[in-house]
Amino acid sequence: MLKDKRVLLIISGGIAAYKCLDLIRNLREQGARVRCVMTKSANKFITKLSVSALSGEKVYSDLFSLTDENEMGHIQLSRESDILVVAPATANILARMAQGLADDLATTVLLATNKKVLVAPSMNNRMWTHQATQQNIAILKERGISVLGPGSGEMACGEHGEGRMLETQEILEAIKLELKYDSQLFGLRALVTSGPTHEPIDPVRYLGNRSSGKQGHAIATAIARLGAETTLVTGPTNEPEPWGVQVIHVETAQEMLTACKNSLPTDIAICAAAVADWRFEKKSKIKLKKKGQPPTLSLIENPDILKTLSQPGNKRPRLVIGFAAETENIIVKGTQKLSSKGCDWIIANDVSPNKKTFGNINNTINFITSGGIESWPKMSKQKIATKLAERIVEVFATSKAAE
Ligand code: PMT
Repeated sequence: MLKDKRVLLIISGGIAAYKCLDLIRNLREQGARVRCVMTKSANKFITKLSVSALSGEKVYSDLFSLTDENEMGHIQLSRESDILVVAPATANILARMAQGLADDLATTVLLATNKKVLVAPSMNNRMWTHQATQQNIAILKERGISVLGPGSGEMACGEHGEGRMLETQEILEAIKLELKYDSQLFGLRALVTSGPTHEPIDPVRYLGNRSSGKQGHAIATAIARLGAETTLVTGPTNEPEPWGVQVIHVETAQEMLTACKNSLPTDIAICAAAVADWRFEKKSKIKLKKKGQPPTLSLIENPDILKTLSQPGNKRPRLVIGFAAETENIIVKGTQKLSSKGCDWIIANDVSPNKKTFGNINNTINFITSGGIESWPKMSKQKIATKLAERIVEVFATSKAAE
């Protein structure tokens, strides 16, 4: 999948350096060519020999090596790569990058590069949260460098918190996405809604639902991975932001509608969010207090985002996909929604409490189009997202062929 892609992996001196060996192996298994630069301190954690054995290439580390510079100069190392990945990225190398230092081969290559750079930070939690590191990270992000993670958990030093280098598969995923390894949706723009909406009663309370955002976020990830320029408009969730996706956080249905409209035009729209059908007519500016009688709260209808996006017009995405969350007669009600909303496809799922669809990693869906109904067996929400993305690819491949 990464066939013929050239990755320059810069390994700096952190305990997570050992994870790079697995990363190199995985990159090569996927067809990538991996060249490695090791900093002086990286050599304290892993050996050049193991890196070279796994990468099948010479390992570079000395800026002033006459032979290295003759064979493969530091400029060439970066020019002859499609992407640069710094993993693990210690607080030290991040600081040197932010300052533009070029005091060893790794930082010189990073300063001389014209390629996309990904960094996977790895350090003690206090070092990560230190203002100095955070300022360096902000500088690097502003320069277009992508920061992968870090994750949180148990650290090598025994402490707990944010600072762990991401796992191999997560870094691999980010590299693939960056290189648009499988770009069947490249050139297309997509909008995905996800999560619940919260409709406030007062500054403290709201009307919400049980959507976790897992299904919508998985869809955004799947289509972005196929190269679509993806915007995810999400209500409040605990899901991590999908890599390579532009994420817009909203709270209410009205905010979600505005964000969706602002994201147009797109080629594809997928409404997986569980949008509240109603909101409170009046929202109290202060917390409501018990005054003997409970307050009378009256509801008014929220705008229908899916219906709005499905309306004919020059801003209508070419493919509009909605969901139907039902607790009975799933297929009948899903089919009715296909016509009442005016979208192209409906994905109908059962949200009865015993099905545990909300928040679960699995889902069972019925794929409804004007051409028929397919009932997919129970599978993970990620798998559903991948299969859906494949269906989307078919639509655009067919329309491309017809042009
Ligand atoms: O988030 P998870 O925990 O992973 O759960 C996934 C899910 C169950 C939320 C998801 O699979 C799902 O079914 N999403 C749609 C939920 C929903 O609101 O369904 P609905 O039948 O009420 O609405 C039908 C369609 O209209 C949906 O595409 C919805 O996004 C859209 N809608 C509804 C109301 C509204 N005001 N605006 C809308 O756009």
